[in-house]
Formats: sequence, structure tokens, C-alpha cells
Amino acid sequence: MSDSKKIAVVGGDGIGPEVIAEGLRVLDALTPEYDLEHFDLGADRYLRDGTTMPSEVMERWRDEFDAIFLGALGDPRVPSNVHAKEILLGARFQLDLYINLRPIRLLDPSKCPLKDKGCEDVNFVVFRENTEGLYTGIGGQFKRGTLDEVAIEQEMNTRKGVERIIRAAFEYADLHGHTKMCMADKANAMRHGHDLWQRVYKMVAAEYPNIESKHLYVDVLTMEMVRCPEQFEVVVTNNLFGDIVTDLGAILQGGIGLAGSGNINPGTVSLFEPVHGSAPDIVGQEKANPLAAILSLGMMYTHLGRPDLESKISVAVRHCLEHNLVTPELGGTLKTSEVTDEVLRLLAL
Ligand code: NAD
Ligand code: IPM
Ligand code: MN
Repeated sequence: MSDSKKIAVVGGDGIGPEVIAEGLRVLDALTPEYDLEHFDLGADRYLRDGTTMPSEVMERWRDEFDAIFLGALGDPRVPSNVHAKEILLGARFQLDLYINLRPIRLLDPSKCPLKDKGCEDVNFVVFRENTEGLYTGIGGQFKRGTLDEVAIEQEMNTRKGVERIIRAAFEYADLHGHTKMCMADKANAMRHGHDLWQRVYKMVAAEYPNIESKHLYVDVLTMEMVRCPEQFEVVVTNNLFGDIVTDLGAILQGGIGLAGSGNINPGTVSLFEPVHGSAPDIVGQEKANPLAAILSLGMMYTHLGRPDLESKISVAVRHCLEHNLVTPELGGTLKTSEVTDEVLRLLAL
């Protein structure tokens, strides 16, 4: 019996549809039995008819789909970014996708901007909390536009939310044989929320005596990621810090066009997307690197019980990097679709 899965597809804005189209070529080659449904969501739709995220679509994603494959959201014509907030953050919050899993894995040493670092040195995963922190929109503006204006953005940390992401990070480390955990916060300045992180981290770490658990303030984490990335195996942090350190991590692994991610709630529908955005500066020029989308598809396969397909994809991507079969931002000469041609050629061998 073929193991069909139902996948919701959202190209989104800018280069989102370009890279998702390439990811789908890989999906068609590896799992033609998968059932895809495309959703017209993003800035064009919003500007056309005011729709951001219909509630019935969110319910269908939750009830009917195995995974969501998303490009990027963000468009200069929608400066408020309201559609991205309702679609992407909407999915993260309403589908309770509390793990944002972002691997920082250098696949080819020539692509690393750090001196004398190889693939074994840049190889860790970030567990970014994905449902609370500074992203909930709790707060408000008072006397907007006046000299007396007040703007409050509140950081929400719940015991449940903090504990489940820290636990997920330890469980992952345990399952994958990792022995080094690092939690990053800013507890020296943020004494309420991040003190909670400290206490919960210590409590969960005590259950994993074989995992060496350390703590770094997030400012030091950014320095250490550049100075000595080999010290990290699993990093766990909050929503905003995770957003920032994973763009830094993307550059360590070669570039933002190489960073894939999963927005995961284990056992339920989860969302896979590149870490990069809609890149309005290169849209329509066939310059977008499709590999982050293709690596995100790989992560989706693992989530759907096919880690063998993620491994195949990683091998093909590594080959492209080693032979400079890449787009211009990585020093190559290939167009977006030509990079995928190479991936498909490798997958067919
Ligand atoms: P960005 O990631 O879109 O672009 C940053 C730089 O990286 C640009 O120079 C861009 O050309 C380059 N780049 C990004 N992806 C690339 C790729 N695949 N291949 C080659 N080069 C690539 O970040 P930004 O400019 O800050 O954001 C643009 C828009 O995207 C904003 O509206 C932002 O909010 C949104 N955004 C969305 C997501 C998402 O949907 N997950 C993520 C990040 C940013
Ligand atoms: C990401 C993006 C989003 C985030 C934006 C588009 C809201 O930067 O997925 O990394 O901050 O989470
Ligand atoms: Mn980001």
C-alpha cells in the first residue's frame, strides 16, 4: 500500500512561490503518491480581497492535513505585515507548533565564512520556542502619533510553554545521542520571564544526567557561535532570540538560502519552510536559492516517517555545494531551476 500523505502548499510572497515550486519538483520525484492542495494565501490575495487567513482553512489544516509546506510571507506593499502575522504566526499559534526546529549544519566547508572551520565544527540544532515570548502581540499603543506616545510589547513566558520546548530539546538530544545542551536567555536583565527559564531548565536538565547542560546569556551565545561553533550540539532558546540566532546560524552554514526549518507539534500537522524571507530584492530574477526549501522538504519527510528521504536530499544538496552547482549568492552561476535539476539528477542515481 502506498503511504500517501496530504500536504497543504502555500507559496506565499516574493521568492516564496519560486522556491516552493522547486521543492515540489523534488517532492514529485520522491513521493508522487502524495496528495497536494495549493492555498492562495499571501499579499496578492490580501490586496485583492482583504483575506489573510480564513478560519476554515486553519481548521482544515488541523483536521485533514499531515503537513504544510510554505514559502515565505512578507511584501513591501503590506507594510503592517498583517497577512504574514495571521497566516504564519497564526499557524504557529493556532496549530500550537511549539517547536521551531532549525538545524545549523554546514554541508560543505568552502561555504563557511569562518576561518579554519569544517563540517564537523558547524553541526548543531536550535530549538526555538514558537508560540509565546515576544511574539504574542500582547501590549498596545497609547496616544499613538503624539509626543506622549507609549508603546508596550509584552513578553509572555508560561511554565507550560517553557517546559515543553526545553523538554523537547532534551528528548531530541537523548534520542540522537547528543551530550551537550545549551540554553540561552537574558536572565541577567530580564528577571521575571527568564528567571522562569532558568528554573525550568535546571529542573529538566536534572532528569538527563548524561547530557552536559550549560547556560549562556544570548549575547554571549552569538559571540560563541562565531568563535567556537563546535561546542554546540543542541541549543534551546525563546522565540525572539531563536529568530535572531538562526539567521546568524544560517550564515555559518553557508547562507540564508541553505537554512531549512520545521514548525512542529509532534504527532500533529506541522509546517515546514525555509528560514529566509520573501527576498523582494531578487524576486522574478531566477536567482533564488531553492536549497533551503528543498532541505525543509527533507525535514518534512523525517516528520512524516521517511528520514531516508531526508538523508537522500542532504546527500544531493551536499553534492551541489561541493561542485559549486549553486545560485549567484553562493558564488555559482546556476538559475533557481537549474540547481533543482542537479538535485533531481543526483536523486535519480
Ligand atoms: P530575507 O530573508 O527575505 O532576505 C535577506 C537577504 O537574503 C536578501 O538580500 C535576499 O535577497 C537574500 N535571500 C533570502 N533568501 C534567499 C534565497 N533563497 N536565495 C538567495 N538569496 C536569498 O529577509 P528580509 O529582507 O528581512 O525580509 C523580506 C520579507 O520577508 C519581509 O517582509 C520579512 O518580514 C519576510 N520574512 C518572512 C519569513 C517567513 O515567511 N518565514 C522569514 C523572514 C522574513
Ligand atoms: C522567521 C521570520 C518570522 C519570525 C517573521 C516573518 C514574522 O523572520 O520565520 O524567522 O520572526 O518568526
Ligand atoms: Mn527570521
